[in-house]
Amino acid sequence: MKVLVVFYSMYGHVYRMAEAVAEGAREIAGAEVDLRRVPETLPNEVLEKMGATSPQKAFAHISVCKVDELAAADAILFGTPTRFGNMCGQMRQFLDATGGLWMSGALVGKVGSVFASSATQHGGQESTILSFHITLLHQGMIVVGLPYTFQGQMRNDEITGGSPYGASTIAGTKGERTPSENELAAARFQGRHVATIAAKLSS
Ligand SMILES: Cc1cc2nc3c(=O)[nH]c(=O)nc-3n(C[C@H](O)[C@H](O)[C@H](O)COP(=O)(O)O)c2cc1C
Repeated sequence: MKVLVVFYSMYGHVYRMAEAVAEGAREIAGAEVDLRRVPETLPNEVLEKMGATSPQKAFAHISVCKVDELAAADAILFGTPTRFGNMCGQMRQFLDATGGLWMSGALVGKVGSVFASSATQHGGQESTILSFHITLLHQGMIVVGLPYTFQGQMRNDEITGGSPYGASTIAGTKGERTPSENELAAARFQGRHVATIAAKLSS
């Protein structure tokens, strides 16, 4: 049973969450888990101005995802930073290259799930995940979120990402925050949960 974790990250927050998602999925017996990033679309000089060149070195070793790899997976977890309450353009461009998979129904019946990051607490994590689900539904995927059995999303004693729609982290307006233990636990839970469902579907 193959689980693919596909992400875009500019400063490393979504990457850290993607690693935790993959860790969770690997806990399920029989799960073969691969981590991939989507292609960068911004020119180097723009990335340099945005302060992304140095942080992106930390995950430059992760292979760039090929569209056909989606078709080979039983479950796909997508990670994206928020851009004005939606997924980032890099992820959108990658998904817009999956028309061939849509035509052939290659993703129909696969499990799809989304996790996210935003700078601010109410800056669009939920809208990013929910609007991403539209694409997954058009592809005929079975959308899975983060159930409340992950009780960390009920916490009020600290600022935390995470909702029934999916794990998320708050990066801070200067990217100064790193994913908290609770947010990483949510990501691991989501990875485990998706892999468990995919294992049942593929058996
Ligand atoms: C063009 C642009 C738009 C953004 N829009 C939002 C937004 O609507 N809400 C928000 O909280 N953060 C917003 N951010 C901040 C990013 O979501 C944040 O940098 C990201 O979640 C950090 O994750 P990363 O380190 O994996 O890139 C935006 C950033 C950029 C560059």
